[in-house]
Amino acid sequence: MIDGMTASESPLPDEDDNPASAFAWPDSAAARRQWLAHGHVAAILDRRALPVLPPALPEEQRDACSSADPAGFLCRRQALRALAGAVLGRPPESLRITRSESGAPLLPGSGISVSLSGRPPLSAVLIADKPAGIDIEAIIGADGIPWNMLRAVERQGLEALPETVRGEAFSRLWSAKEAYAKALGQGFRLPPESLVIEPGGKARFCPAGGMSDLPDGTVRLARLEPGQGKAVIIALALLST
Ligand SMILES: CC(C)(COP(=O)(O)OP(=O)(O)OC[C@H]1O[C@@H](n2cnc3c(N)ncnc32)[C@H](O)[C@@H]1OP(=O)(O)O)[C@@H](O)C(=O)NCCC(=O)NCCS
Repeated sequence: MIDGMTASESPLPDEDDNPASAFAWPDSAAARRQWLAHGHVAAILDRRALPVLPPALPEEQRDACSSADPAGFLCRRQALRALAGAVLGRPPESLRITRSESGAPLLPGSGISVSLSGRPPLSAVLIADKPAGIDIEAIIGADGIPWNMLRAVERQGLEALPETVRGEAFSRLWSAKEAYAKALGQGFRLPPESLVIEPGGKARFCPAGGMSDLPDGTVRLARLEPGQGKAVIIALALLST
């Protein structure tokens, strides 16, 4: 054991081999097929080439004013209501996105779990039949790694890598943690070092003081290269319950 974890733990969970198609915007019929097949639908939107989306609601336009990225804020809600409307068989304008006390997005009365992420010009939206989280992370350089926010075994794993790939490996680990933290509905109210990502993408909450009653999850990673843009990491976490 190293730092309370098994030595086999690694900051490099599995990667999706076809991210562009996995996260392409689906029409209503495709969204329903994905929902029936997988129990979730995820999409990445690029604001430079948006699909036709339902109009923003007045309250969304009002709330967007307090966002650091009003256009992304609106696009995520329009896209989320379009996807949820497709799988629920309801008009998107009849749906309302609220947020929990901790800031997690909610679709009350739908039985659908939702998650959002933004890295301009990209936005990620996820709907799922179980608690789930999505994250888009920029790939940082090795000199930007916040070593003090990592577990000892994670630091060792990253230090063992060539410097040229270390920043991307960190971004993948961080993105996985953030998606899992969102699936738990807490975000980084949970200390990042308490979120453990194992090989194969199993995610666990391991608080410093002992046992956890929070559910495990599974995280999938993808590297996406948007047209004319820098590559980003996408993480999608689904809880085990
Ligand atoms: C949730 C959190 C991890 C998002 O990280 P980020 O890298 O800034 O932003 P992302 O673009 O990936 O995600 C933003 C989305 O997270 C969602 N979100 C916010 N709080 C959330 C929570 N507790 N659980 C799940 N999702 C949450 C929001 O829907 C937001 O989308 P929106 O801007 O369209 O509303 C981060 O904001 C967080 O941990 N917040 C809680 C702790 C906190 O408030 N810290 C303050 C500074 S110490």
